[in-house]
Amino acid sequence: MGRKLEKTHMLFQRAKAVIPYGVNSNFRYWGEKETLVVTRGEGPYIWDADGNRYIDYRLAFGPIILGHAYPSVVERVAEAIRGGTLFAWTTPLEIEVAERIARMTGVEKVRLGNTGTEVTMHALRIARAYTGREKFIKFEGQYHGMHDYVLFSTASTPLSALGSRRNPINVPTTSGIPKDIVHYVINLPFNDFERLEETVEAHWHELAAIIVEPLLGNAAGILPQPGWLEKIRELCDRYSIVLIFDEVKTGFRIANGGAQEYFGVKADLVTYAKALGNGFPIAAIGGKEEVMMTIEPGAVAHGGTYTGNVVGTAAAAATLETLESEPVIETIFQRGRRLMDGVHQILTDAGIPHSMTGLPPIFSFILGVEEEPVDFRGYCRGDDVLYDRLVMALIERGVMPDSDGREPWFLCYTHTDEVIDETLTAFEEAVKDVIRNT
Ligand SMILES: Cc1ncc(COP(=O)(O)O)c(C=O)c1O
Repeated sequence: MGRKLEKTHMLFQRAKAVIPYGVNSNFRYWGEKETLVVTRGEGPYIWDADGNRYIDYRLAFGPIILGHAYPSVVERVAEAIRGGTLFAWTTPLEIEVAERIARMTGVEKVRLGNTGTEVTMHALRIARAYTGREKFIKFEGQYHGMHDYVLFSTASTPLSALGSRRNPINVPTTSGIPKDIVHYVINLPFNDFERLEETVEAHWHELAAIIVEPLLGNAAGILPQPGWLEKIRELCDRYSIVLIFDEVKTGFRIANGGAQEYFGVKADLVTYAKALGNGFPIAAIGGKEEVMMTIEPGAVAHGGTYTGNVVGTAAAAATLETLESEPVIETIFQRGRRLMDGVHQILTDAGIPHSMTGLPPIFSFILGVEEEPVDFRGYCRGDDVLYDRLVMALIERGVMPDSDGREPWFLCYTHTDEVIDETLTAFEEAVKDVIRNT
């Protein structure tokens, strides 16, 4: 087998001449031969520069909730931008989007942003200003964006660097972080009730926030154990700590009200991005009125030249309208469930030990471990090499999840039943291929 990738490779060489590693995000660099140049997307498909078509389950790391170039979103944006894109004044579109977010998620006040990084950064500042404390807890394997404060012990960290569960090490994900920043963060294993309780009891007086991805959206979608999110809520209430749900991946994907609705636990602040705009740059921070009103002109900063710009905001208005008026979430749950069940069956029939993780709209599977992991340390016991080989065999057959098992498979509204069937046929062949060549 072997796709033709001549044009793709030529364009990648051109990209490398002017763009470091030929990509505008390190996460997109897969290696010299594997990094793709993509020219087009429509519905559940993307095409590379050589015209090879892929059923897309990366969906740009999650934002595409409806499908690529979804007509009602594209049309709303095109129509809106004819009237200008940026005014540095409030627009009716911003009001509509804030009202929709509040109605769908239950947050009382909303501010818009452009990226997940931006809103998690602001959320931490608001929490510090609100509590007058400086440190925060996050969980190992969670990723909250590119700002220095949160780039510790993310899903890019090797297990060997994390230290013991009793005494975890804050591992910087990158060079270039000022060394004292590490003192503001405490990383703990996800789902570890005992460690969390003892840490909060020892440090509550300096803790502004606990920031949590309600499920491990950057580590195969590992789910919270029953009572885990409730436990975090209870500790935050007991010690007046701001609970931040980072719903950049779960928001508008696992329920219209996101993880707050799905798991039935309310946070004080919630960050959204990705599915909010179906692929356009838009993000939001919302929360309880009392906490959100900490943002105060001249006292606590929140802003940005492009916040509330017409492009992203029009996309969010159209995306949220579709989510509110059509059974998008129900549909992706049904089709995602069929896909998960099919994948599970094929792996079982092939005798490959595995565990399925996450929820149908954002799921993955870990090879080589039968017991479902509860944290990032557990994820790391899986067989990444085998996963990568399986995914590369799938990509050859026109099905494109991320080759890194930490990044879940994402479903969108235009993944039809036929597309799921085609995916499962390719998956079965890819598994046979991998077994044959082992
Ligand atoms: C949970 C979570 N928070 C924040 C971010 C950062 O978002 P962005 O890439 O839009 O800055 C991401 C990105 O993947 C994410 O998964």
